[in-house]
Amino acid sequence: MTTEACPTCSFEEAVAALKEGQLVAIPTETVYGLAANGLDEQAVAKIFEAKERPSFDPLILHFSEISALQACVAFIPDVAHQLFEAFWPGPLTLILRKTPRVPDLVTAGMDKVAVRMPSHPIARKLLQALPFPLAAPSANLFGRTSPTHPDHVKEQLSGRIYGVLDGGSCAVGVESTILDLTSSEAEILRWGGIPQEALENFLGHPLKARTSSSRPSAPGMLEAHYSPGSPLKLLPIGQFPVDIHENDAWLGFSTPLEELPEEQQLLLSPRGDLHEAATRLFLSLRQLGQLQPRVIWAQEVPNEGLGRAINDRLRRASAS
Ligand code: TXA
Ligand code: MG
Repeated sequence: MTTEACPTCSFEEAVAALKEGQLVAIPTETVYGLAANGLDEQAVAKIFEAKERPSFDPLILHFSEISALQACVAFIPDVAHQLFEAFWPGPLTLILRKTPRVPDLVTAGMDKVAVRMPSHPIARKLLQALPFPLAAPSANLFGRTSPTHPDHVKEQLSGRIYGVLDGGSCAVGVESTILDLTSSEAEILRWGGIPQEALENFLGHPLKARTSSSRPSAPGMLEAHYSPGSPLKLLPIGQFPVDIHENDAWLGFSTPLEELPEEQQLLLSPRGDLHEAATRLFLSLRQLGQLQPRVIWAQEVPNEGLGRAINDRLRRASAS
């Protein structure tokens, strides 16, 4: 490994570093994660420190095998088994009751834990090589956009972590959908890579979504997040900016803005495809933020499928 502040590391180096309780950024199909031994409270504490993340915001534990869940989860309801079959490995996180084996820091002191099985081949291979699950939030500074490429991780976490495992660009581009199975009625806590409609079709009933709160006591649902570094103003579909300034920027879904030069605009998907839009979302927010515009104007996308997750991230970016 080189002496770079945040080097790309080999698979073997990543395994060794994680076993020593160090932090390694890893690829997943959604976004890059900042991983540490999820059963080692001191290793987990380093995640909060590196991200400058408040400790009231709990972490997701990542597994490669359902059999490995047993040590961390007190009870697996039937519906969870059905969801594992249908959606794992993949971008669905489930909230279940935890066992005492899970450090309090991982769950912010709550008695429930978020678990997920990523599908990215490197993440899977890594988890198979380790005797513990990985706690991994998105590998960005707290409150900023999530990384979908190793370069984004290096931009924000250089000098703070052991290294990055390079798995190329993330195929999904928005984080996992979070479904809480700890109360009598399953509830969506975050829209993400598995569309709400796909879960509803599978379960055969509509789902409630409780995805918003500015109260720190309801972690994971902070109103302000994903800041691109400049103010972002979000417009409903079909609405365009009125008081546009010459150094403003435009983040459209598929329609460019006549009033601004091309270099100050990005489209999430010129052909209007929500999957493509999701993969470009965080990268586009970063690129426009780097122009340091007065305002980034953005337009909502159709609120269906992955569009809900995209609109959710845009709304939070506009609140930050
Ligand atoms: O796709 C993803 O889920 C990525 C990749 C790396 O796996 N991870 C990710 O982690 O997005 P993070 O920490 O950036 O977001 C996880 C969210 C947080 O908002 C956290 O508050 C919520 O999950 N969360 C974690 N444990 C929870 C729990 N026990 N109850 C409620 N929310 C929880
Ligand atoms: Mg995050």
